[in-house]
Amino acid sequence: MRFTTLTKVTAGGSLPLLLSLARTFATPVYRAAFLAGASGSGVLAQLAAGPRDVDTLADALGITADRTLLRAWLDLGVQLGELSIDTGCYRLAGRTAKALARPRNDAVAAALEEVMRFHVPVLLNGPAMLGSSTRLTLADQDGAIIARSSRVIAAFVEEAVERVLDREAPLRLLEIGCGSGDYVRYAAELNPRLTALAVDYQPEVAAAAAADLTARGLSDRIEVRHADIRDLHLEPQFDLITMHNNIYYFPVDERIKLLEHARSLLAPGGRILLTTSCRGGNLSTEVLGLWFEFADFGGPLPDATELAGQLRQAGFEEVAVRRLIPGEQFCSFVAANPRPESRENRA
Ligand SMILES: C[S@@+](CC[C@H](N)C(=O)[O-])C[C@H]1O[C@@H](n2cnc3c(N)ncnc32)[C@H](O)[C@@H]1O
Repeated sequence: MRFTTLTKVTAGGSLPLLLSLARTFATPVYRAAFLAGASGSGVLAQLAAGPRDVDTLADALGITADRTLLRAWLDLGVQLGELSIDTGCYRLAGRTAKALARPRNDAVAAALEEVMRFHVPVLLNGPAMLGSSTRLTLADQDGAIIARSSRVIAAFVEEAVERVLDREAPLRLLEIGCGSGDYVRYAAELNPRLTALAVDYQPEVAAAAAADLTARGLSDRIEVRHADIRDLHLEPQFDLITMHNNIYYFPVDERIKLLEHARSLLAPGGRILLTTSCRGGNLSTEVLGLWFEFADFGGPLPDATELAGQLRQAGFEEVAVRRLIPGEQFCSFVAANPRPESRENRA
């Protein structure tokens, strides 16, 4: 390159800016996208079992289309340092790729997919969506990924369940938006006399939860129903209603009505346990909240004080808010459906 050319391209400062962008933004984004794709497609799991050539990998993944494209994609993974290739066989090379491939890190792998597939697009497309008056829909989400990634905070939700659950008495539980069904199962394991109805709005999510609970021999105690909770009209019968990580699937102005409806399903003295990320937490949960603000069905993450107030307006008593993760805004809300006598005493 001639010196004059070099001066020309560096003069305006755009080349250094481009190089700096490539290093600080583009490469990490490419790595994250590659890893999310490798995890979601099953490539990581395949390579965790051992080195694979393209054809073996393609067969295992059910890819019949042009395999040279799969090779090009894998070679990019090699260039990014996440894979290596030796005598035609690909293997895991990067520390993150190896860690994400471990089954015990499945929730983290799903969280990475959630960031790349849902969080990035809302940041990318937000202004354009406003310009074209379009909104995100439930179909823009993959319920299976969300159900898996929600497990990242499982230990904290389980602690909240432990605090509220009677371990011995027969107990009737309703779980709203059960996702994978893991928390209703956890409750059933804590109390062997518990029976439950678990509902989820997304058919594939409800079907997967039902299949998993059946495989674990719990179908006689836990019924999974594909239903919108707003359409579930039953006699007041539940001792406990749990609702984890889904209050933001409902618009703010519908939340009191939803909570009133939930209360109508509780027996007198029954309680609700709601866990949720609230506003003001880490960046990931803030972007999650933004996603739901851009959705045509949901709303922003709740403000903790506002949600406690909505529970009271819906007729609940003894509302207790607890921060579940130190330094974070992930909270549990426990509240009681008043017994008739407590109402009479107040009157
Ligand atoms: C983020 S996921 C959480 C799943 C699970 N509770 C957990 O914490 O792992 C929210 C779930 O709520 C369900 N959901 C949303 N709106 C619902 C409604 N109106 N009735 C029933 N389920 C609903 C969604 O289908 C989704 O599976």
